[in-house]
Amino acid sequence: MTRIVVGNWKMHETSAQASVLARGIAAALADEPRSATVVLAPPFTALEAVRKSIHGTHLVLGAQTMHWADEGAFTGEISPPMLLELGVRYVILGHSERRRYCGEVDAEINRKVRAALGHGLVPIVAVGESEQERDAGITDERVTAQIRAAFEGVAATDLRNAVVAYEPVWAIGTGRNCDPQEADRVMGTIRASIPGLESTPFLYGGSVSPANFASYLARANCQGGLVGGASLDSASFAQLVHLAERGT
Ligand code: PGA
Repeated sequence: MTRIVVGNWKMHETSAQASVLARGIAAALADEPRSATVVLAPPFTALEAVRKSIHGTHLVLGAQTMHWADEGAFTGEISPPMLLELGVRYVILGHSERRRYCGEVDAEINRKVRAALGHGLVPIVAVGESEQERDAGITDERVTAQIRAAFEGVAATDLRNAVVAYEPVWAIGTGRNCDPQEADRVMGTIRASIPGLESTPFLYGGSVSPANFASYLARANCQGGLVGGASLDSASFAQLVHLAERGT
């Protein structure tokens, strides 16, 4: 399976800053044939600037969330056609920060996943347990419930057009990355929880860095990374891409 490295810029980078970062990443990865898919997911306001900055490169545009409706009275929201018009091809859905700070619930994430697939956008569906859930021994139960809810009503044959990101909430932005063997085990559990996920790319996310990424990529269930902090530095992000391309 093709490896995928996604830079989730979160609420960082104005349009002007995003152009500089995108050009820096493009320059760091220039003149090499790419075997991995590399996705940059800036804030909505920087999509157009990043689109221009990566024009003519192999880099692909992603968004960090979206609404499920094509249009309507949804103040502040962004629709799938709006993203498509800007050249967006991937969309992160169900990120734990959206669940935690914006009140996103499984049923809503499911509507978004179905809307993305219906529009030909690749949903990157993020699931993960909190520290309390891990301590309570309900990690597997939690992530399989999230993934089943996210893909409810989606045909098994459509699952190969999606990406799953396993992001333990306690590992995000903390520097406490999940043990790679344990991440692989959980990803295997998620993969086995719905028929059709066998050929879906899985990403690990949570304090991914150039120092630890290879140990995830070495695992059977991991095809790449969903990267926050380390995606905001062009040299670090380019290193992650190089690691993803090694041995493929
Ligand atoms: P992090 O973020 O790499 O900064 O831990 C990952 C994410 O939230 O997607």
